[in-house]
Amino acid sequence: MSQSKNKIGRGTLILSLTSFLFFLVLAIWAFSQHGTWGLYNWNYDYRRLLNIILGLGFLVPAVALILWLLRNKLSHTWLNVGKWVLNIVSVAVIIVSFGIVFYVVVPAYSLLSSTEPILLVEPSTGVYGIPNLYVYFRTETPTVVNIGWGTEDNLQLFNDANPVKEHMFHFTDLQPATEYFYVIDNRMSLTFSTPPLSKTGTLVTFAVASDFHYGGSDANSNERTQILRNISENPNVNLFFMNGDIVDLGMVNGHWSEFFSDVSENMTKPVALVLGNHDTLIGGLYHFRNYFYPEEVKVENGNELYHRIDVGNVHFLVLEVLWGSEEFTSEQQKWLEEQLSSIPQEDWVIAISHCFYYSSGDIETGRVWSDHEDTTRLISPLFEKYNVDLVISGHNHHMELLEKDGVTYVLEGVAGGGVPGPRPIKSEYSKWLYGDSRGYLEVTVKHSEAQLFFKNVDGEVIQQFTVTQNTQ
Ligand SMILES: [Fe+2]
Ligand SMILES: [Fe+2]
Repeated sequence: MSQSKNKIGRGTLILSLTSFLFFLVLAIWAFSQHGTWGLYNWNYDYRRLLNIILGLGFLVPAVALILWLLRNKLSHTWLNVGKWVLNIVSVAVIIVSFGIVFYVVVPAYSLLSSTEPILLVEPSTGVYGIPNLYVYFRTETPTVVNIGWGTEDNLQLFNDANPVKEHMFHFTDLQPATEYFYVIDNRMSLTFSTPPLSKTGTLVTFAVASDFHYGGSDANSNERTQILRNISENPNVNLFFMNGDIVDLGMVNGHWSEFFSDVSENMTKPVALVLGNHDTLIGGLYHFRNYFYPEEVKVENGNELYHRIDVGNVHFLVLEVLWGSEEFTSEQQKWLEEQLSSIPQEDWVIAISHCFYYSSGDIETGRVWSDHEDTTRLISPLFEKYNVDLVISGHNHHMELLEKDGVTYVLEGVAGGGVPGPRPIKSEYSKWLYGDSRGYLEVTVKHSEAQLFFKNVDGEVIQQFTVTQNTQ
């Protein structure tokens, strides 16, 4: 009697192939998102979790291959057991994939139907050397919005030509040292004053804060709001940089919603947004691009992720450095070198990125979060080569001033997220370190020096420094 050949069966093969395809598409999607490689490299807790998920995905083809290789060596009973295991794992992978699509992918591509207006800095310069500004927001239903902006003697009124859901208004060619008013749909009149660009005194005063973590469970919303109010109330501040980790989870609309409400209500200064690692998390970039960079926004030099903001002879280079050097592509490096080599030495160059370079810190999930091994190796040498005057970053939630080969590095502290307390690892380049409370940084740039004020939640100065231009 001839024995029939053992077969895995078409149904089982189709099921396993389907589950593997689901897994593969999701894995490729997740790792093609900005920030995912950084998460994998810099948070070993998430690396372990991602490794388990990747392992499960590859378990299906591995089991299928083993069964196929052993199909004629196994008894009918054992082959059937193997097929059942394969079917169960395949179905589990398909169910988990649907869960990920429903709970991660769909929210990643869903946007808030309405957002509150925020005054934003456009990376383009007006004829008087001041960055142009814009207000962009969405309303749930098509609406005609009225907006007014200008000086006390010359208020210009604009409105949407038709009822629309997306509203975009530009404030262009602003004059230096001028107080401007703006009114959006009869909301209370708001004011800000443009950078003085004085020939002998102050060029510009700006505030920087980072790590707001809107939506985060360990964030302190009262202190965060207090910081926004202090900055708004200081008549000298011309611009406000929000230096990354704006929200806790970039793909969660609820977190962006908290951000819009707080900033719209409590911040009157023009805001320049810088991406952080939390903002891009699994699909967060889609929100960032849609909420802040509609087509009408003009980026003169760079793109929405990294660009240059010129305020007279003070040049801010906003970089996309999230966890480390994962997003510091050869294009970004080439762009940075082009900017650095073309800006005259006597001008100010201030680099701003979320991730730090030289810094004190600690060990988190098995990785050292101080003197960053990748950014100091790949990016700091450029700062040194081209005599960058000041480098401002966040990511580590403390305040610090460091100096290395003529470059002054500053960490501006935490505005909303967790307060770290004392840092166990001290950088050899550190001049001052503080991690006991939330706060922010205010900088007044003059012709040959900049005054740095590290402030607490109540706007009181914790520490101050004078930094001279880097002429090494
Ligand atoms: Fe953070
Ligand atoms: Fe961060």
